[in-house]
Amino acid sequence: MSEQALPDLVIIGSPDLMEVQPPVPMEEVPSPAFRERLDILRACMHAYHGIGIAAPQIGWAARVFCLGIEGHAERYPAADAIPFGYWINPTVEPIGSETNWAWEGCLSVPGMRGWVQRPATILARGLDETGTPKEVELSGFAARVYQHEYDHLDGRLYPSRVTEPRWLLPEKSFLQQADWPADWPSPSARASGPGFLATAP
Ligand code: NI
Repeated sequence: MSEQALPDLVIIGSPDLMEVQPPVPMEEVPSPAFRERLDILRACMHAYHGIGIAAPQIGWAARVFCLGIEGHAERYPAADAIPFGYWINPTVEPIGSETNWAWEGCLSVPGMRGWVQRPATILARGLDETGTPKEVELSGFAARVYQHEYDHLDGRLYPSRVTEPRWLLPEKSFLQQADWPADWPSPSARASGPGFLATAP
């Protein structure tokens, strides 16, 4: 698959990113046409240097995303490896009440990062690329990415989860994070680079 054949990224402001996406009919999952769309989604994730991508971000209206960090993630240098996986018609359920904080970015919100709180551990359920049900308990950065991608399927982008205006920053600010005032924009946010998880705001 050549890179010029890939669809463009849909970016914030497009109504397509604000829609609740429709589930994939079960009978479509094993089809070659569906498989081809999954391949394109994965190729886009790599071509655009993401660690996760959801179908509506490439103009595909469906409850599908993929995620994974297979090598070094240039946009999240501190993050550990995450096995690649497709999630079709996924669900998410927090396990326990623990939450954490991280600087999130999104291919559909170019040039920005936001300091976002989410449940630390989740139960992820959905279908894999063959239509087989899977159920995994996720924690760490994988839980974070899963929840971010899941939000896309409900028409939600991470800036709507940023609770303080100073917690939404241009990516370029992180090049000078060492020069930020002490404890700004919060103690943990000051100390956390992209890919870190913090236990306090
Ligand atoms: Ni995103």
